[in-house]
Amino acid sequence: MSRAADHPVDSLFTDRWSPRSFTGEAVPDAVLRSAFEAARWAPSAMNAQPWRFLVARPGDQWWEAYLAFLMPRNRLWAAKASALVLILSARELERRGERVANGSHSFDAGAAWANFAHQALLLGWHTHGIGGFDREAARQGLNIPQDFAIEAVIALGRKGDLAGLDAEFHGAEAPNGRRPLDETVFAGTLEQPAFVKERDVA
Ligand SMILES: Cc1cc2nc3c(=O)[nH]c(=O)nc-3n(C[C@H](O)[C@H](O)[C@H](O)COP(=O)(O)O)c2cc1C
Repeated sequence: MSRAADHPVDSLFTDRWSPRSFTGEAVPDAVLRSAFEAARWAPSAMNAQPWRFLVARPGDQWWEAYLAFLMPRNRLWAAKASALVLILSARELERRGERVANGSHSFDAGAAWANFAHQALLLGWHTHGIGGFDREAARQGLNIPQDFAIEAVIALGRKGDLAGLDAEFHGAEAPNGRRPLDETVFAGTLEQPAFVKERDVA
């Protein structure tokens, strides 16, 4: 179940992937605290820390409402997660006593979610980002003011086995790959790759 990286990288980055089979077991507060602590240390423009995290866990007063605003296909598997985390980001920050637009609120919330996912993995828990949900229903139902952008839902859980996962997801229940660096990193403009291909150098 390991992914091969093209260049040396800590296995933390390739070991993180997004399963849909979860055991549904309860997640200890200590695990959530630790993952949110990692998120808290993400960098952000002007250290504004625009991220906010809303958590629902099975059996609590929010759980069913959170499941209800997921798209039905996502609800099928996310119902067995141990927590659903709704990520918000504040659209404005304070600069010299004034509220001004923060052009990187989503970018910075993305950095925080990556920290969250990697710390959770270090503790043996997997995460799966969910963009397929009704943002307006979440905003209305959870009383989220327009000052906050609704970014994503994160399902967190312990990876379960295939038997507990709806058959339609079985084929996709494996780590996927990535576009090569040559098609991702460019020298100055989008015209040419930043690095000479190793096979061209040899
Ligand atoms: C913001 C975001 C939204 C996503 N939305 C969904 C979704 O609605 N449903 C789903 O099954 N997976 C969703 N994913 C999971 C991605 O498909 C997955 O992260 C991507 O294929 C890379 O695979 P990996 O996370 O296993 O490396 C989402 C991921 C992110 C980061």
